[in-house]
Amino acid sequence: MTSVIEAATLIHPSVKIGHFCVIERGAVIKPHCIIGDYVRVGRGCCIGEGVIIKPGVILAEDTVLKAGAFLAPSVVTLRDQKTGCGAPVICQGVFIGGGAIILPYVRIGKKATVGAGSVVLNDVPPNSTVVGVPARAMRTKVFKQSPERENRIWRGNG
Ligand SMILES: CC(C)(COP(=O)(O)OP(=O)(O)OC[C@H]1O[C@@H](n2cnc3c(N)ncnc32)[C@H](O)[C@@H]1OP(=O)(O)O)[C@@H](O)C(=O)NCCC(=O)NCCS
Repeated sequence: MTSVIEAATLIHPSVKIGHFCVIERGAVIKPHCIIGDYVRVGRGCCIGEGVIIKPGVILAEDTVLKAGAFLAPSVVTLRDQKTGCGAPVICQGVFIGGGAIILPYVRIGKKATVGAGSVVLNDVPPNSTVVGVPARAMRTKVFKQSPERENRIWRGNG
């Protein structure tokens, strides 16, 4: 079994798409993206260059993922069920941990981090980290990257 790609999508030939995915009508996927198995890309989503989407992610219609964003397994983005508006915008270089839920109208700023399992109700400032339910700021990111910290950030089921 492979994946379902609906009509009127624009997918660059370099994009890798796993099995059992559904890419809905009008979606645009730019070069060098990698999309895991069981991913749903809703109608009209726009996915920037080099985005990585792990298995089981569900993107609401019109979600915007800018270049270099990373979505760990089972991340979900939602939009307003009454108006059909408010698809989230996820900016360049954002990291979203496994199972996080991004609610309608949320904008996640450049290079921000969302912890695994978080429920994000409000905008996230650039370079910040939010965790929890509801997601709250952890601290402003200072680049004190050590191999040990890097390992903690990436550990998970992916
Ligand atoms: C958010 C995250 C990046 C923070 O990593 P970190 O900077 O090393 O943070 P720490 O582990 O030092 O935790 C700092 C605090 O935040 C809390 N915290 C960390 N991650 C949390 C999360 N996902 N949800 C709720 N609280 C969290 C810790 O309990 C700790 O709280 P305390 O100060 O009260 O003890 C990391 O915990 C995370 O969620 N990574 C995502 C893993 C993932 O999905 N990987 C995908 C692989 S494909």
